[in-house]
Amino acid sequence: MNQYDAYEKYQEFDDYQTEKSAYRKAKAGKKKPKPAEMIAQLSNFDDSLAAWVPSYAAALDPRHHERQWLIESVGPFYRDNVITDVTHRVKSGKEANVYCCTAHPASGVALIAAKLYRPRMLRTLKNDIIYKAGRQLRGEDGKLMKGRREKVALAQKTNFGKQLDMTWWIQNEFSTQQKLFEAGAAVPRPIGHNGNAILMDYIGEEGLPAPALIDSAPAPGEARDLFALIMDNVQLMLNNHLVHGDLSAYNILYWEGTAVIIDFPQMVDARANPHAYELLRRDVARVCAYFARFGVRADAEELARDLWLPYMGSIG
Ligand SMILES: Nc1ncnc2c1ncn2[C@@H]1O[C@H](COP(=O)(O)OP(=O)(O)OP(=O)(O)O)[C@@H](O)[C@H]1O
Ligand SMILES: [Mg+2]
Repeated sequence: MNQYDAYEKYQEFDDYQTEKSAYRKAKAGKKKPKPAEMIAQLSNFDDSLAAWVPSYAAALDPRHHERQWLIESVGPFYRDNVITDVTHRVKSGKEANVYCCTAHPASGVALIAAKLYRPRMLRTLKNDIIYKAGRQLRGEDGKLMKGRREKVALAQKTNFGKQLDMTWWIQNEFSTQQKLFEAGAAVPRPIGHNGNAILMDYIGEEGLPAPALIDSAPAPGEARDLFALIMDNVQLMLNNHLVHGDLSAYNILYWEGTAVIIDFPQMVDARANPHAYELLRRDVARVCAYFARFGVRADAEELARDLWLPYMGSIG
């Protein structure tokens, strides 16, 4: 078992603690992994390569699954003088963890956010097929992949296929974010990516990351401006043939009176994806539902139609 498999298993055990019923369903009939076994396997990992131990990792037990994973994932950015430290974990999600890093002085910013995907995200990414419809496969270099071997590997979910899949998702998320940033969208500036990590501008202050809109309460006047800003961004995305696909008050950060949209792995191509209009409607409906609480009146169906019709000429 390689370290990523071991990490996945360990993580499953973690989830077992918190999501017993989901775990039971998913693992029906399979043997429950024992934490002691997992830790014993993890302790075999070679930590000596990791001459650099960021302060967040240094505080963890050397056998802690997260330590090795973090060092390996962000080590290349340390060696390339992009970051100098990882100080804390901002958020631990189902598919990814986000960490706050101290930026290297050459990078021109003080803090950088590192979003690290877990290997297990390959299995949990929801409705993968809906989002992938109409997309073409691209390799790490962003070039279209035509090879039968790659397609077969992906279809059969072999280890090679999983690695390709991960690479594909990360590459896709990064290039989408870059395209949007360059087009002037309110998204964090992307800085770099590798196998399972994306680095971008950190929104917030050290020890005080920007809250999501869902945890914020804008004043009524401010809410109207934020709503307008977000709808302008939805329009801008569509002008770039993109639909966010998971837009909601959870994926919009609120900082210094403005909004920043995050989380792009599931973005779809509005021209090619047959579900694009449905996803646009859902995005708009969720944004409207949130702002309705703060006195913003808007008809989500009408807004979605008004965005889509001039763009596509027809619905369906
Ligand atoms: N650039 C950033 N600056 C500051 N905090 C960030 C940044 N990007 C992400 N975060 C924090 O990390 C959280 C998760 O990020 P994101 O939504 O991209 O990942 P996710 O995999 O969808 O996680 P989740 O399942 O929790 O939604 C955000 O809600 C936010 O708190
Ligand atoms: Mg999210």
